[in-house]
Amino acid sequence: MSLFVKQNELKTFLTPYLSQKKKIGFVPTMGALHQGHLSLMEQSLSDNEITVVSIFVNPTQFNNKEDLEKYPRTLEADLKKVESLNKNIIVYAPSVEDIYEGKTESGHFDYDGLEFQMEGKHRPGHFDGVGTIVKKLFEIVQPANAYFGEKDFQQLQIVKKLVEKYKIPVNVIGCDIYREESGLAMSSRNERLTAEERKEASVIYKIIKEAKQLFGTKSAKEVTDWVTKQFAKQKMFELEYFEIADEQTLLTCKRKSNNKNYRGFIAVFVNNIRLIDNISLK
Ligand code: PAF
Repeated sequence: MSLFVKQNELKTFLTPYLSQKKKIGFVPTMGALHQGHLSLMEQSLSDNEITVVSIFVNPTQFNNKEDLEKYPRTLEADLKKVESLNKNIIVYAPSVEDIYEGKTESGHFDYDGLEFQMEGKHRPGHFDGVGTIVKKLFEIVQPANAYFGEKDFQQLQIVKKLVEKYKIPVNVIGCDIYREESGLAMSSRNERLTAEERKEASVIYKIIKEAKQLFGTKSAKEVTDWVTKQFAKQKMFELEYFEIADEQTLLTCKRKSNNKNYRGFIAVFVNNIRLIDNISLK
């Protein structure tokens, strides 16, 4: 594994590969790496000649100061995981200064309305921060393929829109959600849960799986009301939202249509720790 902390050094290193038209695969992360991240790296290793992984907790995408401060930072352990997965992976783990060059601010992005739904409503400015960092990282790494987990499905759609709007020549590839044995979607934030919270959090997937079954016969509103009722019974969890939305537009489903693909999206608080998940309702 090679580690770069300066964008200029990484760019110099990648230049000959880019001139030889070698295919670069890119996995952007905020660290606290888990099996889900490693599966994205495996996908990239099998599709590309070079794999670059970034590890950077991006301050501009956090709308909550405490969430940013408490976000797990485990660089040493992360590097060991990458090294044991594959010695050829290139890691870019910059400082805020290196990547933002003295101007730690988000740009403003128009994602044709995708940014106003769900996470966008509840985390103001979040997708401006994501667009800012992902665009910068794409400019530095110049990947042919970039890999994003479907746990952040809205982010995945937003990044696809970003590359379309800015004509960035990269293939954005969505990869399946990786789950713990209990069904809990893998997330770096799971690190902040106590053992009991982590065990109990399996209820999130259990409920959305049942919601999927119900959606076969019930309306989106009936299913949403049912999910809301289930969480009202849960002492440890506070439901922020459950929405059934069109996968492409992310607009809330008012009336089911046969030619649309829907997904159930959920955000839940466990003791101030925010967990998200989603499920295809096909
Ligand atoms: O999904 C994440 O970990 C982050 O939002 C990303 C894409 C690395 C940008 O900071």
